[in-house]
Amino acid sequence: MSMNEKKTISGFSKLSKRNKIKWIVENFFKDPELVMSELMSYWHGDEEQQKILDGFSENTLSNFPMPFGVAPNFLINGKTYVVPMVIEESSVVAAASAAAKFWMSRGGFQTEVLSTVKLGQVSFEWHGEKETLLKHEGDIEAMLIKSTDHVTANMRKRGGGISSIKIVDFTDEKPGLYQLKASFETCDSMGANFINTCLESFAGSLQHYILMHDEFHVKDVNVIMCILSNYTPDCLVRAKVSCSIEELGQFPDGMDAQTFANKFYQAVEIARIDPHRATTHNKGIFNGIDAVVIATGNDFRAIEACGHTYASRDGQYRSLSKCNIDNDQFTFWLDIPLALGTVGGLTALHPLAKRGLELLGNPSAEELMRIIAATGLAQNFAALRSLVTTGIQKGHMKMHLQNILNQLNANEKERMHVTDVFDKEVVSFSRVREVLEQFRAEAAI
Ligand code: MEV
Repeated sequence: MSMNEKKTISGFSKLSKRNKIKWIVENFFKDPELVMSELMSYWHGDEEQQKILDGFSENTLSNFPMPFGVAPNFLINGKTYVVPMVIEESSVVAAASAAAKFWMSRGGFQTEVLSTVKLGQVSFEWHGEKETLLKHEGDIEAMLIKSTDHVTANMRKRGGGISSIKIVDFTDEKPGLYQLKASFETCDSMGANFINTCLESFAGSLQHYILMHDEFHVKDVNVIMCILSNYTPDCLVRAKVSCSIEELGQFPDGMDAQTFANKFYQAVEIARIDPHRATTHNKGIFNGIDAVVIATGNDFRAIEACGHTYASRDGQYRSLSKCNIDNDQFTFWLDIPLALGTVGGLTALHPLAKRGLELLGNPSAEELMRIIAATGLAQNFAALRSLVTTGIQKGHMKMHLQNILNQLNANEKERMHVTDVFDKEVVSFSRVREVLEQFRAEAAI
């Protein structure tokens, strides 16, 4: 049997979980027994809980643990939050917490939901007379909204539903190509299922409408696809911090507030001007945003995709945050589209996402938008503060040192000694081992 034959299988999804693991470990690992027991060691102790986790995806073998941490002291619109964060990168939670504390004594974060529109698209090809189609736009909109009354009844009771349906003409780009572009309000749910159900229903109703109206001479409507759009520029939230320059205080190595504010402003400007820096800058924002999005059972891929498109909305990829210094007042803010839910989907199923939301006081989707935007801004503030003062490595190296000490099984006394030494030295694995070994040797005498 060739290597490749060994690595393909049909009917894998039908195997029991144990047999899936068995096939995987026997064919892909040097020590099958060890890997099998390792994978099984991450199974949830409670079978019912494990079933829930397995239900989220397919072909699950085990669970993949990630740290679930919290950043306390977030003062947002006068209310204090402890923000749950799921992230594997060291320093992120510490940085968010430090920025939250910094702003807590300077008025906290001011946030505002600017709009909550979600979008969906039905793409179709039709080669009839464009003017006739556009003339019917209003009637088609009314008909489509009416035709989905049964689907939207519950959402309308909660204050949501379909807000508008427009026809988008792409025929200049591709002959015959149009779209129904529908706007929705989905209240506290992310609304993906609701939107996609409405869109699929629109498709059939549109075809029927054209068939039944004599003014349309071409009857053949080729519906290509119906799907929500993850680009929701009008599901937008703003988070802002502001204080006088003097209130910013002192920074490491004697840097005064005015110098800090100027350097900080320049750092944001660089991210506005240069896409390479903007990408890293925005990555720092998403360090905070994604961590809370995951901790509250939301879809971080959707949030990231949307945020990056929004960052490119004027044709160049730019910083999502902005800074202003005016009359001695320092202001730093972030406008970001966040299409989130706090009911339904994973928010109701994932045991820790439920706890994440509970920790935040079971917020509405709008409140969660505000909390997450504030976390993104805090993360960005913390990163820029380090970058324009001590440099990022100082904080990172502290965590890196602790990880090395964990690997070397250092006890409390050894940790204190080594941490002291590396207050003034550059951290590297070999040098840490050397200092630790020396300390252990001296202690043994
Ligand atoms: C690292 O994960 C994030 C930063 O690179 C962000 C930034 O440079 O602004 C520190």
